[in-house]
Amino acid sequence: MENRQQIAAGNWKMNKTFEEGIALVKEIIEKSNNERTLVILAVPFTHLNGIADLVAPIPNIKLAAQNCHEKESGAFTGEISANMLLSVGADYVILGHSERREHFKESNEVLAKKVEHAISKGLIPIFCCGESLRIRKAKIHVDFVSNQLNEGLFHLNPEAFSKVIIAYEPIWAIGTGETATPEQAQNMHKEIRALIEKKYGHDLAQNIPILYGGSVKPDSAKDLFHQPDVDGGLVGGASLNADDFVAILNSF
Ligand code: PGA
Repeated sequence: MENRQQIAAGNWKMNKTFEEGIALVKEIIEKSNNERTLVILAVPFTHLNGIADLVAPIPNIKLAAQNCHEKESGAFTGEISANMLLSVGADYVILGHSERREHFKESNEVLAKKVEHAISKGLIPIFCCGESLRIRKAKIHVDFVSNQLNEGLFHLNPEAFSKVIIAYEPIWAIGTGETATPEQAQNMHKEIRALIEKKYGHDLAQNIPILYGGSVKPDSAKDLFHQPDVDGGLVGGASLNADDFVAILNSF
């Protein structure tokens, strides 16, 4: 993994009440003593402010939101802006998760706007990409992910792009218990890095963290994280349990 930052990100999705969330973060803080890994907790919007106070004294634990709007403010009932997220302690935002793409019909076009807006405000996007089982079986997964990157990310200028974290999350591995093999993950991460290199050059390609997501568990994390182009994980289910999540972040 070159000299890139190791990252363990937890995506809580729509889980945990506020009290449960506070208890989970306290347990993670208590049980983890790994200061080399950047830990990013993508918690529900409603929890950010309260959890920000808890993690403030811990330099390597940061907060993310799971979505944000592409406009600065205005008549968008129910939406949350990048500025709002920054004001309650989020430094990162997941954009383009496959569940947002599928259930909320987020297109590459809208994601391109969200990414650009988030970066312009100083919020770091964790941009998700990844193919369905149908696409993988048809052996067009590299083209599919390449298109997601072209349309959703590669409009950024190099300076803006240098802020981005990418998460490769094959849809067939999310929440299914079926993890991509370390080789499958490495192959796709290598392809993604090659696409970045083609667009932005070698140095930038070497600096962008690419996380793997999809049923990362304590017993699969180590082999995945030891692949040369896998810089960490975006962890769903296993991030809801402190022991599992701490075991994963100790897997580097
Ligand atoms: P999972 O979710 O670890 O439960 O498969 C990963 C994700 O959706 O980010």
